[in-house]
Amino acid sequence: MNNKIRSLSGYFHEYQKSIHQPEKFWSRIAESFYWQKPWDKVLSWNFKDPEIHWFKNAKLNITENIFERHLFTHGDKTAIIWEPNDINEKAIHISYKELFERTCQFSNALEAQGIEKGDRVIIYMPMIPEAAIAMLACARVGAVHSVVFAGFSSSALADRINDCKAKMVLTSDGNYRGAKNIPVKAVVDEALEKTTSVEKVIVYKRTDAKVQMKSGRDLWWHEIIEGQNIKHNAASMDSEDLLFILYTSGSTGKPKGVVHTTGGYMVYSQYSFLNVFQYEQNDIYWCTADIGWITGHSYIIYGPLLSGATTLMFEGVPTYPHPGRFWEIIDKYKVNQFYTAPTAIRALQAHGLEPLEPHSLESLKVIGSVGEPINEEAWHWYHDHIGKGNCPLVDTWWQTETGGIMISALAGITPNKPAHASLPLPGIQPIIVDSEGNELIGNNVEGNLCVKYPWPSMIRTTYGDHKRCKDTYFSTYPGMYFTGDGAKRDHDGYLRILGRVDDVMNVSGHRMGTAEVENAINEHPKVIESAVVGYPHDIKGQGIYAYVICDMEGRSEESLIEEIKDTVRKIIGPIAKPDQVQIVSGLPKTRSGKIMRRILRKVASKDVSNLGDTSTLLNPEVIDEIIKGANIK
Ligand code: PRX
Repeated sequence: MNNKIRSLSGYFHEYQKSIHQPEKFWSRIAESFYWQKPWDKVLSWNFKDPEIHWFKNAKLNITENIFERHLFTHGDKTAIIWEPNDINEKAIHISYKELFERTCQFSNALEAQGIEKGDRVIIYMPMIPEAAIAMLACARVGAVHSVVFAGFSSSALADRINDCKAKMVLTSDGNYRGAKNIPVKAVVDEALEKTTSVEKVIVYKRTDAKVQMKSGRDLWWHEIIEGQNIKHNAASMDSEDLLFILYTSGSTGKPKGVVHTTGGYMVYSQYSFLNVFQYEQNDIYWCTADIGWITGHSYIIYGPLLSGATTLMFEGVPTYPHPGRFWEIIDKYKVNQFYTAPTAIRALQAHGLEPLEPHSLESLKVIGSVGEPINEEAWHWYHDHIGKGNCPLVDTWWQTETGGIMISALAGITPNKPAHASLPLPGIQPIIVDSEGNELIGNNVEGNLCVKYPWPSMIRTTYGDHKRCKDTYFSTYPGMYFTGDGAKRDHDGYLRILGRVDDVMNVSGHRMGTAEVENAINEHPKVIESAVVGYPHDIKGQGIYAYVICDMEGRSEESLIEEIKDTVRKIIGPIAKPDQVQIVSGLPKTRSGKIMRRILRKVASKDVSNLGDTSTLLNPEVIDEIIKGANIK
C-alpha cells in the first residue's frame, strides 16, 4: 500500500517533509485516492476566522474510494466481520462486494424516501453491519450523517435532532447490550415528541421487540430496501462538503456539533490508520469503540475501509457473558491489531488473569489505547498480559475535533514509552504553550497543548454556530488551535498528555462537560444550585462528583440523591450519572460569584491537606462543612 512509513528514519524523513512543504507532502498522499476532479489548491487557511479548505474545488465521493477503487483487487475480501452480542448467534462476514451492493441498495432506498444531498440523517443504532451501511449510504448520496450513541437519552437525542434539523432518523426496534435488551425505538418516539424536522424514521428489525410504528412516518428497513437496485451512482461531493456532524461535550452546557468535511477527512483517516497500526493486507483489525464516537467513525469504518482492511465490529460489551469475551474474540478471528480504551483495560484487569488463561492471543501484532491518559499500571498490564511483552502499544492521542490520531507511536517504528502518546504523526505540528500563549521550546516543559498548523481532518466549524468554533478553539491563543488538554514534553522529547485543563471530564473515555451535568441536575425541582467536578476513579479514569444545594423540606437525603442521579440518567443517559452526590448548604464562591472548583476537586479527590489560597472566598466557612460531609478522615 502507498503512503506507508516503514522505518524510523522514514518517519523522520516524512515528518520533515510534511513540515517544510506541507502542500507538496499532502498532495502526494492524496494522489493515491480517486478524485472525480482534482483540486485547484491543496490548502488555503487562516486560524483567525477560522477558515480552512483542503483540496479546494476537488470533487469526490468517499465511498468510491472504499468500493470502486478497490473492487478489482479485493472484491471478495472480507470488509466487515460482525460478532454478535450473543455467543450463540452466528457471526457474519461481509465481503467488499457485498458491502458495496448493500450500501448501493440502501442509498437508493434513502433517495426513494426523499433524502437529498446535504440533508441531515441521524443514526441511532446498535453495533450491527447495518449501522455501517447507514453511514456509507449517507456518504454515497451526499447526506450528512450524525451518529448518536444509542445509550443517550431521548432528550439528548432530541437536542441533537433539533440542532442539526435532521430530516430522517435511522434506528432499530431494540438493541442487545450484554444481558440487556434496550427498547431504542421507544426512545426515538419520545425524542420525536420534542422535534419537528424529522419526516421519516427507518427501523431495522434487530430484536423483534414490539414497537409502535407511526403511519406515514415510520418504515421498516427491510421493506424500503425491497426491490432497490444494487447499483448506485455516487453523488459528486466537493472536498469541503460536509461528511458528518458528531456531537461532543464542551465546557458550556450544550453539546456542539463538530463538523467534518469530505476530502481532508478521507485522506487523513486512511493515512493515520495505515501508519499507526501498520496494517498489512491480510490482517484482521479490531477496534472496540462504538460507532457513536469519533473512534468508531475514523477507526472502525472510514480509516480501515478506505485501506481495504478487514474490520471487526462487535455488538456486545467486554464482560458478557464472561470477562474473557474480548480475549475469546481475539483468538476466534486471529485478530492482529486490537484497539481499545484504558477504562476497558482497567475493568478487565480487575478480573485478574484467570479469564486470560484459555486464550493464546498469539495473533496479536499491535495493541492500541485511546480516549484518556493510560496510567502506567494499566499500560504495563496491557503490554505484558495482552501484548505478551512483544507487541508495540500505541497510545493514540486525538479528539472528536481532530478527526484522526494526532500524536502516537507508529507501531513497531517509533519507540513506545509507557503512558506517553510520544511523537506527532507527519503533518501534525503540536506545540506546548504557557498561559500567555508563548511557545515553550525544548524538552522538560509543561503547559497547554495547541496545534499551530492545519491538518486535513481538522474541525471546520461547529454546526450552525461558527462563532462557537472560533471562541472555543481559536481564540484562547490567537493563531493556534487549542486542544483543551495539558501536555508535557519530557527529557527525551516525547509528549505525555496530562488531561483536560478546562471544565471537561473524561469518564470511561467519554467526554462530559461539567456544565452539561450541572444543567441536568438543576432540572430536578428541589435543586437550587449544583457544581460538578471530576475525581480519580480506579476503573473509569474519572468519576463524576456533584455538590448540590437543595430545598430539603420534607425530604430525606438518600431519596433526593437517588432522584438527582436518576434525573441525570434520564436527561443525558447512563454515562453521565454522577457517582457521588453530596448535599451541601453552600458552594465556595469568590467575591465575584465564581465557584472555586479547585477546592471542590480537592475534596472530591479526598486530598485536602493543602487547599491553597482561600482568602478570596466570600464564604470560607462552607469548606469545613463540605469536607466533613465528604467523610474525609
Ligand atoms: O483529553 C483528551 C482525551 O480525550 C479527549 C478527546 O475526547 P473525544 O473527543 O471524546 O475523543 C476521544 C477519542 C479520540 C482529549 O481532549 N484523550 C484522548 N486520547 C487520549 C486522551 N488523553 C490522553 N491520552 C490519549 N491517548
